[in-house]
Amino acid sequence: MRKIQMVDLQGQYESIKERVDSSISEVIKSAAFINGPEVHAFQKELEEYLDVKHVIPCANGTDALQIAMMGLGLKPGDEVITADFTFAATVEVIALLQLTPVLVDVEKDTFNIDPEAVRKAITPKTKAIVPVHLFGQSANMDAIMEIAAEHNLYVIEDNAQAIGGTYTSVDGTSMKTGAIGHVASTSFFPSKNLGCYGDGGAIFTNDDDLAHTIRGVVNHGMYQRYHHDVVGVNSRLDSIQATVLRAKLPLLDTYNKKRREAAEKYTKAFENIDTIIVPQIAKTCTSVCEKCTCHVFHQYTLRVLDTDRDALVKFLNENGIPCGVYYPIPLHRQKAYVDERYNEADFKVTNQLVKEVISLPMHTELDDEQINFITSKVIEFVNR
Ligand SMILES: Cc1ncc(COP(=O)(O)O)c(C=O)c1O
Repeated sequence: MRKIQMVDLQGQYESIKERVDSSISEVIKSAAFINGPEVHAFQKELEEYLDVKHVIPCANGTDALQIAMMGLGLKPGDEVITADFTFAATVEVIALLQLTPVLVDVEKDTFNIDPEAVRKAITPKTKAIVPVHLFGQSANMDAIMEIAAEHNLYVIEDNAQAIGGTYTSVDGTSMKTGAIGHVASTSFFPSKNLGCYGDGGAIFTNDDDLAHTIRGVVNHGMYQRYHHDVVGVNSRLDSIQATVLRAKLPLLDTYNKKRREAAEKYTKAFENIDTIIVPQIAKTCTSVCEKCTCHVFHQYTLRVLDTDRDALVKFLNENGIPCGVYYPIPLHRQKAYVDERYNEADFKVTNQLVKEVISLPMHTELDDEQINFITSKVIEFVNR
């Protein structure tokens, strides 16, 4: 059996080596390292793929979130609601901009922000909601967009983990995640579903004015060379990363299909195990899609009940199976983000999830032998 990896980037590279090597070499020969034709071509191709009017490439997914918030003109003291159960980048940029993060609980089934908790957290100072499409599945965007419209709030989708995923509304229309809110961010970190070979990110929007503002923000606040109209940042996707992304974008749907197929095999293997809760697909999707195309399984995350989760992690590692705990501590209990306004009773789901979740290896190169070995070891442990 091939060595099991959490993410197998070398294996994936083997299948695109020729294209990637030659295009990187072309970039080097052209010396157009920054803002070159490869970056512009990738931007256009991604706009087409997502069916979104504007893609603005930048240096990473954290910058993308920050720049989206700067572009919207959010001001210190404005409250921004986001999920308690996510990677810290989401809340970090809110705090960095001196906005007030308001963390709320998530749904047990999908791990995504709970619209009812969002509704309860709204105050006159609330300006934006940041749903995170966690582990590859869209948040409940019908509900989030409805709440935002009622209260005149911006919606900033954190699409770092769900690129290529779709969201199907209750009315049956489907849109790519990241094309639904007022603005969205994504990350091209190597292990992401569409990953480059370094850091990268992008902002998406259908709003022409916002896109114009953001194009200046990413470039030192310049709309005309050496005229700095707003305070900006320096955040660029370089041409080498763009050329890697151009090689991978046409394969993204195939990559996501492979992830879904691996997820289906995992789920099938665990179907009769009472102490394992497999990832749940949101209902709006299963009722409309013939075969769910919504979840793109950035992570395959189980909940293990009545099980010593940390001992399971150790057991799997001892058997050569890497796994992850995303995330072990809720954001509201992280030192940097503790706030006396928070009440533990408002975070029941997150507080439970951090004890139960475990993410199994998930990537495009998993084979049946590896999946069978992984599932047999998980079952062996939980049945002890
Ligand atoms: C949900 C989420 N948001 C934002 C980011 C930040 O992306 P980057 O690492 O490219 O800055 C990540 C990266 O892991 C993420 O998972």
